Formats: sequence, structure tokens, C-alpha cells
Amino acid sequence: MNTTDLAAQQKFVDYAVGHPHLVKAYDAALAAIRGANNGCQVVIVAGPTGVGKTRMAAGLCTSLKEDYANESGQNPEQIPVLYGNAVAAQGACFSWKDFYTRLLTRSGEPMTDKKLAIDRQQNLFADVTLAHYKQNSTADALRIAAENCLRLRKVRCLIIDEAHHMLMVRKNDMASLEFQFEAIKSLALETQTTIVLVGTYRLLDIRDLSGQLVRRSEIIHFPRYDCRDKDQKLQFAGVLKQFLEELPVKHSLSHVRDFRHFYNKTSGEIGILKDWLVRALNRYYQAKKKPGFDMDFLDRYALDNKALRTIATEALLGENKLADISEDALSQLYMGGLAVIPEEQVKPSAPQKKKGTVGRRSPHRDAVGVANV
Ligand SMILES: Nc1ncnc2c1ncn2[C@@H]1O[C@H](COP(=O)(O)OP(=O)(O)O)[C@@H](O)[C@H]1O
Ligand SMILES: [Mg+2]
Repeated sequence: MNTTDLAAQQKFVDYAVGHPHLVKAYDAALAAIRGANNGCQVVIVAGPTGVGKTRMAAGLCTSLKEDYANESGQNPEQIPVLYGNAVAAQGACFSWKDFYTRLLTRSGEPMTDKKLAIDRQQNLFADVTLAHYKQNSTADALRIAAENCLRLRKVRCLIIDEAHHMLMVRKNDMASLEFQFEAIKSLALETQTTIVLVGTYRLLDIRDLSGQLVRRSEIIHFPRYDCRDKDQKLQFAGVLKQFLEELPVKHSLSHVRDFRHFYNKTSGEIGILKDWLVRALNRYYQAKKKPGFDMDFLDRYALDNKALRTIATEALLGENKLADISEDALSQLYMGGLAVIPEEQVKPSAPQKKKGTVGRRSPHRDAVGVANV
């Protein structure tokens, strides 16, 4: 690729559209963060994958840093806004140790690895068994270090992208799920930091757990464009038009004629659309013999329909979860009491029974010195 093509491609990659859903979610998130009570609130930004959440989070970071520019100018040690990813769990559950370590490293905390010196701590506290240390106390030590760091660095806002990874627990393990959010909430409370969780609709599981958990949090929805709504359909077409006009190559694509196909191949999500165009543009520039930049060419780099079906289903389920109930339904609850709530919501889920192998005894101690009869 020559330097002219490279520059043209980069210009298109950097091109950003301030579309209506983004502007609305961005303003709502910024207002929620700025208005957080004593800085001890959790703001949840939820939306489907590929809608543009990460890009929006980067924008929030920039705006908030400007907010605190004066304060941090006077105190060079301060990190007013800290941004990071919640990395997916390697095992079944999210790793808090990994999270705290990354948080400390990102904030420039020295000797993070020393805070993990399990064996040395073992020498100091020889009466505590090592296994216990490895499982709990390392995470505890790191949590305390992370809390201290957030306090000392006067972090006002901690933005965690891909935060749905933090809620990775074993299937149907509601107690662990509740613990995950409790841990996030107490980090916010202990350090007076506003925590912004950015992620997919999976984050909404927090809200469904209990009223107490959501009291200190605010949910911001960043949705895709829904073609069943006439206004949203027009808005998506508007963004498509802007992207097509900005494409640095000659093409025959139309935001009117090709609307349906573009919509179908993106689920109405701006990030998926942008990534698709960037992918095609890159292959176009790489090609020695230039192909026509038309729908057939674009289709080679589109997501397949099965992947889109998964994305669309997740989006529809998430939108459904966020849809509020009617006031009538609420009145019915007040008047009818628990009888109107579906049974599965009232009964706590039964603990899962461990499965054993038929014919094999479960391990347990036999009584010593007594005949087994
Ligand atoms: N408003 C926008 N204008 C231009 N490009 C965008 C916009 N929103 C998202 N993108 C681009 O689309 C791609 C996917 O967006 P991303 O923020 O990663 O989505 P998400 O985090 O929701 O999965 C990224 O390359 C991003 O830069
Ligand atoms: Mg993202």
C-alpha cells in the first residue's frame, strides 16, 4: 500500500459521525457521571456489541479529563480519570487478582508484582496455610492496594470497558454474580470513585438481581437503530449516507437503493457498518488490480448471516430486558401483592446438586477405631 492510500485509509478510519443514538447516550452518561452522588455511584452503559460503546467510552474519557484539568494541573500525581478493559476470564470466573493487578499497573503504581509476593508473605505469616493465601489473601492484598491507589491518585472516575466480563460466573450461580457487583460497588464506595461499567446487555443481569444493588447505579442505554421505527430508519440511512460520502474511493453505492442490504448486514449498528467499510477499503487498497467498489465487492467482507443472527438476537433480548413495564402492571403488583408475580421470581433458585458417579461412594472420612458395620 502506498503512502497516499495509507493516509486516505487512516482518514476514513478516524472519521467519526456524531449520530443521534451516540449523542443521546453520551450526554446521558456524562450527566450521570458528573452528577454522581459524592462520587460513589456506578454508571452502567449497556448496548449491543458493535454499536460504538468503546469509541464512546474514549470520548467520555477525554471530556472528563478536561473537566479535571485544573485540579490535576495543581497536583501532578493525580490521575483523575482511569480507563481500562475488564479482560475475559481464562477459567470459569472473572479474575479479580488480574483486574487489580492491571489497574495498579495502569495507574503507574510501582512494584505491583511485589504485592503478589505470596511466598514472602508466607514467611512472614507462617501460621497461615499457603493454599488459603493463594486463593484469598492475594486478591485481598491487591484490592487494598488498588483502593489505596485510587484514593492517593485521587481518581474521580474509573471507566471499565468490556465490563460484562466481570460478571462471568458459573452458570446460574446468582450468589457469585451478586458478589461481583457488590465488589464493584464497594470499590466505588470505599474510594469515592465513580465507576463506569461499559459493556453488553449482559450487564443488565446486575439490575435484575435486586433493588438494593441498583439503588446506587444508573443505567444508560446505547441501542442500535431499529428499522421498525420510521425515525430510526431515517437516522440510520443518514449515517450510512455520511459514511458513503466520506469513502475515499469511487463507488456506486447508494444509501437509498442499498439501504435494506446495508441494514441487514449490520443489524442497524454503526460500529459494525464502519468496521465493514474499513475492512473492504483496506482490501481494495491492497489489491494490485483494482476491483469495482460495489456491493458484490463489499459482500466479500461482510459478517455472515449466522453471526448477524446471533448479534440481532442478543440485541433484541437486551432491548426487551430494558423495556419498562406499564404503570398498570405496577398497580396490579401493589394491589395484588406477591400473588401476581410469576412463581420463579419469588422462589430463590434451588442450589445445584453435585452429580456423582453411580456405584461410586462420595469421598468422606470413615470413623477410626470403630468397626464399619
Ligand atoms: N460514531 C462513529 N463514527 C465513526 N466510527 C465509529 C463510530 N462509532 C464506532 N465507530 C467505529 O466502529 C468500530 C466498532 O466500534 P466499537 O466502539 O468498538 O463498538 P463496541 O465497543 O460497541 O463493540 C470501531 O472501529 C469504531 O472506531
Ligand atoms: Mg467495545
